[in-house]
Order: sequence, then C-alpha cells, then structure tokens
Amino acid sequence: VALARTIFRDFKKLYTFQAAAEKSARHVTAADLSFIESGALVAEKGNVLWTGPSENIPSEYKKNAKVHKMKGLIGYPAFVECHTHAIFAGARAEEFEFRLQGASYQEIAGRGGGIASTVKAVRAADDKTLLRLAQERVDAFARQGVTTLEIKSGYGLDFENESRILKIAQKLKGPAIVPTYLGPHSLAPGFSSCQAYLEECIHDLEKIKKQNLSRRADIFIEKNFFELPWAEQYLKRASELGFDLVVHGEQLTRGGSAPLAIAYGAKSLDHGVHVSKDDVSRLANSEVTAVLLPAADFYMKLPYPPARALIDRGARVALATDFNPGTSPTQDLAFVGLLARLEMGMTLAEVFCAYTLGAAYALGLEASLGSLTPGKRADFLTSESEPEDFFYSIGESPVHGVFRGGREMTV
Ligand code: NIG
Ligand code: FE
Repeated sequence: VALARTIFRDFKKLYTFQAAAEKSARHVTAADLSFIESGALVAEKGNVLWTGPSENIPSEYKKNAKVHKMKGLIGYPAFVECHTHAIFAGARAEEFEFRLQGASYQEIAGRGGGIASTVKAVRAADDKTLLRLAQERVDAFARQGVTTLEIKSGYGLDFENESRILKIAQKLKGPAIVPTYLGPHSLAPGFSSCQAYLEECIHDLEKIKKQNLSRRADIFIEKNFFELPWAEQYLKRASELGFDLVVHGEQLTRGGSAPLAIAYGAKSLDHGVHVSKDDVSRLANSEVTAVLLPAADFYMKLPYPPARALIDRGARVALATDFNPGTSPTQDLAFVGLLARLEMGMTLAEVFCAYTLGAAYALGLEASLGSLTPGKRADFLTSESEPEDFFYSIGESPVHGVFRGGREMTV
C-alpha cells in the first residue's frame, strides 16, 4: 500500500541546516542553517522527500497528499540528545551538599556514595518503577523537541541489571531511543578492583551483542575508575565485536583517553574538559565527535572544555545534558546551550548544529538525522520563535510542536 505523502507548507521560515550538513557539521556559520522563506517540507514514509518554497511544491507531490498548513510557524530540525543516564532510581541531592561543603566526587564515590548509591537504588527498584520514572524524563525531553534520545546503562553494574536497564530503554515511548551499554561506569559491588570488574564487562560484551541489547559500548576512563592501559582491552574487544565505541574521558583529570578514542575510531569522546592542545588537533583531524557536557561541568565546578579551539581547528562537536542524578541533575537543553554560549564562546549557530547534526554524528545516525535534507527522517519541531529565542532563557523551551517521522508527537 503506497502511503500518502504529507505536505507541511506555509512555514514562516523553514530551517533545513542543509549547508551545515554538507560541511559535515564542521566550521558551521549562521548562514549554514539554511532557511527557506515561506518554506514547505514534503514527507513520504517518514522521510523528507523535498523541501523548498511553498509556492514551488512540485505538482506530482500534491496528488493524494495530506496537507498541513503551518500558519506562520518556524520549522527546525528536531533536537538529538546524545548523552544521558536517564534510567535510574533514587536521588543524590544530599551528596550535592557534601560536595559544596568540600568533599570531592571521588571521595564520595570512595565512601559508597555517588554512582554506587544509584546502583543500589536501581537494583532495589522493580522494572515497572524504573520504566515509569524514565518515561516521565523522556517526556520532558520530547517536550523540548527531542525526537532521538540516547540512554546509557551503567547503574546496574552486573549483567542482570545492566540488561534490565537496556530492555527498559526499548520500552520507552515517544522519541527514538538509542541504548548504550556502559557496564564499566564504576566499581561494581563485590569486586575488589576496577580491573577485576572490567574483565567481567569485557566478557559480558558478547552477551550484550548476542541479545541485541545495544550496538554501542561506552566506558568511564578516569583515575580511580577505569584507567589505561586496562581500558584499552575493553575498547579492543568491543571493536572486534562490532560495537560503536563511546568514551567518557578527560573529565576530572587528563588520562590519555582522547588519543585512545581516536586510535579506536570511537564515535565520540564525551566530556573532554581536560583535553590537551595536541588532543584538540588530533580530534579536529579525526572523525571522533567531541560531545561537550557543560551542565555537568557547571554542577561539578569544573573548567569548561575548549570548545572554541576545537571548533576553530575543525573538530565536530555535539552538546548534550549528560542528565544523571549525580553530576548533571538537569534535562534543560536551553541551559546546556546557554552555558555553551556564555562559558564556551559558542555561537548560536554552532549550538544549534551541535544539538542536531553534531549529536547525530555522535550517535552514528548522521545519514538519517540532524538536518531536513531529502532522504533523512522528517523529524522537526515548530516554534513561533526565531533562533535567537532558543538557548537563552533557562527552563524555557520555545518549542510549539514536535514531529517524528512526519507525524506529530503528543508532548
Ligand atoms: O557522565 N562521569 C561519569 N558518569 C556520569 C556521572 C554519573 C553519576 O555520577 O551518577 C557523568 O558525569
Ligand atoms: Fe555521562
């Protein structure tokens, strides 16, 4: 059965980000956001078939087409949130006060707080509770125009609970969910050392793969967590098994995870607060996307990663919330983008690109997401606002409607 086409016409403006996509999301300027005055988008089978001025819609596309008049709204590619830890139970607000009173993140982890306390709460929660909690958070992302959402495991720390988290991710409704295995997130209860636990993770990779629980393998490479050279064995095994690699690295200290991520062709290096000058040039000359997480840096009182240097050298960057109960208890895209502008000197166009194309690259989904170009998914948002109203007011999203695969999502 041939599906009817859907025509979205009479946008006040339609931003396609086409030129930014042609530049592979590097060196993006405001002009690269590519808007069409009085634009239209023709969708077929959930994909973009055509974009252009509403008055130029080819007549063959109008046959059997459902027409939506966008009545003066502005259209943008939907946002891609490429780094979250959104499936968890419990709360860590108390630990935040300890940190403000001088305890370090690593000290709190050493006394069984931090990630370990979330692991305890997750293991104690039943699936129904975890799903309900996560669905509320997913809905909060969707309301802000997110149609693709990455969620990591990492609060289970044994195969049973890690796979439970990854299965819950598959049950979430609304945006497309990209689940990522993050077994090596912290020392698991019952293990004497991170190395010993890492061996178990390396062993579990095969089951994760066989059971189709995730196509991505992530690791937290950090002093007192998973360190070089052991961390390399995990990346090596994951790569052999065909996983896309992701690295939480160079966050609290510089440990050499950036060159390692590049050497293994990781999709992304996330955090990157402490990347060296050499790392910056290496990243710029690689296909690794630098995923910047300024809300975590803000809550952790860390310096911010050198976004300006990365972008100017030609690196591709993405932005994400890193939403988690410990280091980034916020889901606010506006806040993340605002920090990128205020604290990292990113331009508004760079922020838009980082939250769409850059994030699509980080997920390995650049062929189908991040811009409204023919062949990609018809994932877009509508707003009454021009770009300058985005990533400006904390806690405010100027998003009006959200469309995934050419269909309006109820958000
Ligand atoms: O991305 N850095 C490691 N993992 C998370 C924090 C998780 C937690 O503290 O619960 C992060 O910041
Ligand atoms: Fe994270």
